[in-house]
Amino acid sequence: MNSFTSDDFGFTFLEEGISVQDFIEQKNQELSMLDSEDAFFVADLGELVKKHQRWVRSMPRVTPFYAVKCNDSRPVVMTLATLGTGFDCASRHEIELVTSLGVDPSRIIYANTCKQASHLKYAADQGIQMMTFDSEAELVKIARCYKDAKLVLRIAADDSDSLLTMSDKFGATMKTGWKLLERGRWLDLDIIGVSFHVGSACTNPDTYRKAISDARAMFDVGKQLGYKMTLLDLGGGFPGYDIPDLFVFKEFAAIIGKKVDIKEPSGDEDKDVGADNKTMMYYVNDGVHSSFKFVLFPHAYVLPGPQKKRKLNERTYPSTIFGQTCDGHDLIVEEFDLPDLQVGEWLLFYNMGAYTVTTSTTFNGFPQPDIHYVMSRSAWQRVQQIYAAQGLCDCEEAGLTDAPASDGKPRPARLIEPKISGGWTGQ
Ligand SMILES: Cc1ncc(COP(=O)(O)O)c(C=O)c1O
Repeated sequence: MNSFTSDDFGFTFLEEGISVQDFIEQKNQELSMLDSEDAFFVADLGELVKKHQRWVRSMPRVTPFYAVKCNDSRPVVMTLATLGTGFDCASRHEIELVTSLGVDPSRIIYANTCKQASHLKYAADQGIQMMTFDSEAELVKIARCYKDAKLVLRIAADDSDSLLTMSDKFGATMKTGWKLLERGRWLDLDIIGVSFHVGSACTNPDTYRKAISDARAMFDVGKQLGYKMTLLDLGGGFPGYDIPDLFVFKEFAAIIGKKVDIKEPSGDEDKDVGADNKTMMYYVNDGVHSSFKFVLFPHAYVLPGPQKKRKLNERTYPSTIFGQTCDGHDLIVEEFDLPDLQVGEWLLFYNMGAYTVTTSTTFNGFPQPDIHYVMSRSAWQRVQQIYAAQGLCDCEEAGLTDAPASDGKPRPARLIEPKISGGWTGQ
């Protein structure tokens, strides 16, 4: 950001002697005078400043990159941009927001291991080079769309002490990580570092020690393969506020802030699975924060199917389908039998009516999917007939009647759009 005033942020100054609590009371009084009882937020941007200072003081070697997904309101992002943090973006929309504030692309990491090709191209156009990956398909996609990217290998971390886990969905095992580094070399890509995420709301700071040591082992492999790896992305999981005996920021900072030099990696290995036992993981560009929120409710039933016709008796594999967000629990369906699917193929989900659009959010900056409404001509005719039969319109005037025409033949119903659309409140 070049120059700015407090007006650009849209906040009210808390004058000397006025606390947030006073401000809330003042707001309550104002609202009751207006006869309003609506809920409201009070966001003290000063808290961001305090937290930022605490971070840089306790972990001077770690540059904070704010994960936009956690709160993308403009005043919050503007405040952090002004404080000079970097940004972790997971989608085109998040990148748009951050760059619109004048943040230099070198302060942004595109930290979604599964990127839609169009979003990847957008990042390339914006000059955002740092990005994470954890699969071969993603490496190949990046090699095709963005050769100059600076890649960060995401490895799985132990998240068993975190309230929200990530590693079922994200992160390569050590063995796969090794193979991916080799593949990256072969594709002539530049891998500059390693990332992990111990899961959100981590209750055990020691988890970072182990994850950092696994990352260290990956750096060593990278060095042998000729990469110049210099970046370690610690993901997240840090407490925003202290709860004694559960999360205490100081304890995290004590482990991360000092030079961690632990050599033994966790030894977590891939099991060799034969082709017959193969299970698949797919990532699609919708998910439980968009159209699939209902899968979080009991008795949800999802029926995916590939759009492309398959040969009769084509081999299928138990397949797990994940959504597009960085949420480790963004899981649409587990172990559903599907044929081998390729990147770019369409999957169809049927019966996506109730509790899809209405519960959808734009979490992680993914817009709600477009809806293209359709109706057959015969169904439309039926609508018109039913409407007319109810006597809800002046059928004569509208030229609509299901009475036989004078020549004895049924007359096709005619469109009466203005009246129909005026009568509906739907989209
Ligand atoms: C890649 C990545 N980085 C950082 C974060 C922020 O994590 P947390 O809120 O646990 O600090 C997330 C959260 O989903 C993430 O997916």
